[in-house]
Amino acid sequence: MFSKKFERRIYIAVAAVMFSGALGVSFGAYVLWPSRREAGYQPVQPIPFSHKLHAGILQIDCLYCHSGAEKGPHALVPPLSTCMNCHAEVQPKDSLGNLRPGIDTLLEHWENKEPIRWNKVHDVADFVYFDHSRHIAGEVTCQECHGPVERMEHVQRTYGLKMSWCLACHKQRLPEGDPAFSEGRTTRGPIHCTACHR
Ligand code: HEC
Ligand code: HEC
Ligand code: HEC
Ligand code: HEC
Ligand code: HEC
Repeated sequence: MFSKKFERRIYIAVAAVMFSGALGVSFGAYVLWPSRREAGYQPVQPIPFSHKLHAGILQIDCLYCHSGAEKGPHALVPPLSTCMNCHAEVQPKDSLGNLRPGIDTLLEHWENKEPIRWNKVHDVADFVYFDHSRHIAGEVTCQECHGPVERMEHVQRTYGLKMSWCLACHKQRLPEGDPAFSEGRTTRGPIHCTACHR
């Protein structure tokens, strides 16, 4: 029906429209749903898991559940098996018969071998390189970046993870006596562009 050359042009035109469409959608999502990137962002979770109870009152170490933070880029949310270390014993009702909300759902998921789909609270832009382990090794505390999580019933974003926020900390000079102080270091972290944009 069409000449070969014309057909090729149509393919190119269709490909171009599809490509700009995809770009438009991702940019639109970035502009239309900015709340996910703001401080204070607090999605509803499938189980009302309390950091205030587990990390605050029970004083379970952050790294007991988020061991990935020491080892690599991602802190990781623990699998159900970590919860079951205790919740095989700690049941939906306490000894007085009071309900512990959420544990029944937890046990159901465990029996059905169905992971819990936690909603992400923090999500740094995809074009940014971030690694937990280097920060933990550099003695930056979880709280400097996530706020007082051990006092939060439900985790919320304390900081928006903007570039200016990363840089504000990286530009600081540590005071002498700080555990992470080093004589040779003029700043806390790198500030050249390619450290975070590779
Ligand atoms: C080191 C032990 C331990 C681990 C690990 C643990 N829990 Fe718990 N959890 C407890 C104890 C103890 C209680 C009950 C506290 C009470 O009722 O006084 C509890 C209570 C709860 C409750 C009920 C809260 C309420 O308001 O009564 C939920 C829901 C819960 N845990 C979810 C989880 C999930 C999800 C995980 C895994 C990510 C987990 N727990 C890991 C010890 C643990
Ligand atoms: C008993 C296990 C447990 C302990 C202990 C624990 N956490 Fe968590 N953490 C979870 C679970 C489960 C989630 C996912 C549900 C949620 O966001 O509340 C989570 C979520 C988070 C998030 C949000 C993750 C995201 O999606 O961006 C941060 C930040 C966090 N934890 C920090 C900490 C810090 C800091 C400590 C220590 C003060 C700590 N956690 C102790 C189990 C734990
Ligand atoms: C220097 C700042 C900084 C420190 C220190 C830090 N975090 Fe994070 N955390 C972040 C950023 C940024 C993200 C988002 C990462 C992403 O989207 O890839 C994040 C994400 C998370 C998540 C979500 C899962 C993931 O890895 O993406 C958890 C859970 C978490 N942090 C827990 C912790 C715990 C526990 C500690 C302390 C042991 C800690 N963080 C220390 C900045 C930090
Ligand atoms: C509260 C302070 C603090 C904040 C906030 C912070 N950093 Fe850092 N960062 C450090 C320190 C300290 C180091 C140096 C660690 C070391 O090597 O001793 C570092 C090192 C780094 C490095 C070099 C190490 C590596 O993994 O290659 C990168 C990349 C980095 N940070 C990215 C980020 C990004 C991206 C953000 C924001 C999303 C951020 N940082 C927020 C304190 C911080
Ligand atoms: C310590 C880490 C870090 C360093 C160093 C860094 N950036 Fe960024 N940059 C980020 C983060 C995090 C974002 C994402 C901000 C957001 O999501 O709002 C970002 C976003 C950007 C953006 C997108 C627009 C914006 O502001 O959101 C541009 C462009 C950019 N950076 C350029 C640079 C240039 C040029 C340099 C060097 C002068 C640099 N960055 C150094 C962490 C860094």
